Amino acid sequence: MALALRERDDKLKEFTRSKIMESERLALIGQLSANIAHELNNPLQGIVTYSHLLLEDLPRDDPARDSLEKIVIQADRSRDIIRGLLDFSRQRKPDKTLCDVTNVLKDCVSLLEKQALFHNVQITTNLDERLPLTVIDPSQVERVFINMIVNAADAMDGNGKLNLATRFDPVDNCIEVEITDTGHGIPKENLDKIFDPFFTTKDTGHGVGLGLAISFGIIKEHKGTISVESEVGKGTTFIVRLPVTTEEESPKDDQSV
Ligand SMILES: Nc1ncnc2c1ncn2[C@@H]1O[C@H](COP(=O)(O)OP(=O)(O)O)[C@@H](O)[C@H]1O
Ligand SMILES: [Mg+2]
Repeated sequence: MALALRERDDKLKEFTRSKIMESERLALIGQLSANIAHELNNPLQGIVTYSHLLLEDLPRDDPARDSLEKIVIQADRSRDIIRGLLDFSRQRKPDKTLCDVTNVLKDCVSLLEKQALFHNVQITTNLDERLPLTVIDPSQVERVFINMIVNAADAMDGNGKLNLATRFDPVDNCIEVEITDTGHGIPKENLDKIFDPFFTTKDTGHGVGLGLAISFGIIKEHKGTISVESEVGKGTTFIVRLPVTTEEESPKDDQSV
């Protein structure tokens, strides 16, 4: 009995140690990629700005137009990747503007639905097309939705039903986004761990457990909340609530974050 306990203890220690080493490694990778992202950000901004300007000035029938359009698309894509890395290390200030959250969610769907993981996922929607606009960083909020939608598809092994809903809650003056799947669900004991950095139940190479941690940070920065309801074997619903505001944050608010 004592031996079994000691063995379990040793295993636990080993697990804790390897988990710590793993998170130190990831923290280091995070720091490294943040430094690279930081260095690349300025020259990339130049490429993005000037390629857009060139394209705007180019006559419609110019033979170079096709190539230049490709450069603009790839430059924008690189900028988005760099932004993602900067978000991860929280070095980028949010870029907030008045948005329609339903449209942000729709953009995520059109980005994802063509991917192989979604071929056997039946996507249904209950979207409020007349949501009040609110000030958010659309690319950050898009990241949150994309992560949740991919998590949902993962939980269903790419086979099941995904429902996306948006609605306005006039009582709390906030926008509610609901992402519901018919996947394997989250056991009770994991519910308070899923937002921890590096918590993942996926195989190595499939998940690092940063998606929800980053999402939590992004939604908190927007003064919103994320909640989750889940039943093992039935499915999961993530609910993101974002306050409706037409004001950019005041400097006073910025300091309190
Ligand atoms: N829709 C979902 N259904 C079931 N489990 C989920 C769902 N979303 C998240 N999870 C659980 O939360 C964990 C953490 O998610 P996340 O932070 O996105 O990291 P990752 O996707 O890299 O594992 C997942 O590994 C999974 O166990
Ligand atoms: Mg994830």
